[in-house]
Amino acid sequence: MSLVPVIAVDGPGGAGKGELCIRLSRKYGFSLLDSGAIYRVLAYAALKKGIALDDTVSLVALAKSLNLEFKEENNAVAIILDNENVSKFIRNEETGSAASKVAVISEVRAALLQRQRDFRLAPGLVADGRDMGTVVFPDAQAKIFLDASAEERARRRVLQIEGRGVKADYQKILGEIKERDDRDRNRATAPLKPAPDALVLDSTHLSIEEVVDTAVKFVESKLGK
Ligand code: DC
Repeated sequence: MSLVPVIAVDGPGGAGKGELCIRLSRKYGFSLLDSGAIYRVLAYAALKKGIALDDTVSLVALAKSLNLEFKEENNAVAIILDNENVSKFIRNEETGSAASKVAVISEVRAALLQRQRDFRLAPGLVADGRDMGTVVFPDAQAKIFLDASAEERARRRVLQIEGRGVKADYQKILGEIKERDDRDRNRATAPLKPAPDALVLDSTHLSIEEVVDTAVKFVESKLGK
């Protein structure tokens, strides 16, 4: 029996993985795993319950009992925690940073492993994260590592925030990006790094269309699509 195909897309925050993964999942009719959202929801739920972000025992218990659902709503994926749509509460840098802190704990990662693997259902999966190709789906048929310089990711983030009519501080955002990168890259368990068999794509000077075209060619060479 052949395994359900997985396209693993890893890389630092803000490199464009989210948009690439949505495009790939639509193109192939595959479902989507936003693993960062799982870490974000865990951190959000911990903060709400007053659990410290280094309290391994409580965080593992919370990770195991997390009542989390991803629901398609108005062409977007809504994140539902305990029947409440928390999507708009988890997409800020405070929760991103908290997620990166709980993600350092190897016992927490282990508690979330099977939950992520359960997304591997026919006809296929596009998995977005930091360790999709290295740890969660080491047998993924196509692995992509999407990178971009911290300065370019900060510039894109500023444009995104200012596009909503809110003033953004480039230096502050750049500092936060570098701090989170550093934590994600240097942790002992499942650090952010390309799998040896990943296509490393640097999007610093590429448009989203160029990224998608390159990724699609690579995926098709691997999946025989
Ligand atoms: O992709 P994101 O920005 O939503 O992820 C938030 C944090 O969660 C990220 O900084 C580190 C952690 N994370 C992880 O450790 N492993 C993953 N597969 C996904 C996210």
